[in-house]
Amino acid sequence: MRTVYVNGEYMPENEASVSIFDRGFLMADGVYEVTSVLGGKLIDFEGHAVRLQRSLDALDMRSPIDREDLLEVHRELVRRNGIDEGMIYLQVTRGSAGDRDFVFPDPETTAPTVVLFTQAKPGLAHSPAAKKGMKVISIEDIRWGRRDIKTVQLLYPSMGKMMAKKAGADDAWMIEDGYVTEGTSNNAYIVKDGKIITRELSNDILHGITRAAVLRFAEEAQMQVEERNFTIEEAQAAEEAFITSASTFVMPVVEIDGVALGDGTPGPVATRLREIYLEESLKAAV
Ligand code: PDD
Repeated sequence: MRTVYVNGEYMPENEASVSIFDRGFLMADGVYEVTSVLGGKLIDFEGHAVRLQRSLDALDMRSPIDREDLLEVHRELVRRNGIDEGMIYLQVTRGSAGDRDFVFPDPETTAPTVVLFTQAKPGLAHSPAAKKGMKVISIEDIRWGRRDIKTVQLLYPSMGKMMAKKAGADDAWMIEDGYVTEGTSNNAYIVKDGKIITRELSNDILHGITRAAVLRFAEEAQMQVEERNFTIEEAQAAEEAFITSASTFVMPVVEIDGVALGDGTPGPVATRLREIYLEESLKAAV
């Protein structure tokens, strides 16, 4: 049985609970982070901690735990649960004021709820899916306008994954005003004339921590990067496509809306970027 962390305490998962009045439960009034673990170490902890603070600030939520303590909780959960490869999920909500009310409770009297738990994923780094590549479908992006805040409002992304599953695909890319925004839980890229193309940062997409690292590594490896919008048609005609996220690292996309990219196998740019990302991230893991 897992040991989880709830509001300052470690406990077995079956003893952990939060109030039915918690605003995370009633209003999706909460933010989260997913940090991957490789070789028992945290990948890009700093990046996730910085983005957590950004999400909290954007929603006028107090930070319930400082950076050092947060790192210690992550490490302790990895230790207690013997995680070699996997993920740590962290969620902070505005807490429970003991009733349902749209108005935010006074932060002086209502403390945020903090929950962390581990998810073991043996074989995460050497996933067979990365060798095969994934199939995506396109769906309309009907999410709200602050996708840069990592909130727990994940109903539409869940629906998108179900639509993909129903269509025999692995995931969905979302389209707004004719352009790809991002994947349901990842950032989206294409490769054209050897150049890596991905949408620029704005409130329209999540500012991926993996995205930032991958673009940095790509430039260090003298690969060209262009941050601009692209359409599904352009993606279908691209040499390669891929996604990035903390849980998939760099994952090749080999088919978009039934159209195979190139020969339908993972391309060299995505494959190389995955290797570089894993190698460099492991070196910097804490
Ligand atoms: N999802 N875009 C969306 C909509 C996401 O939900 C995520 C992450 C990303 C990639 O961000 P990062 O590289 O920081 O993981 C982009 C996480 C993994 C999840 O919900 O499980």
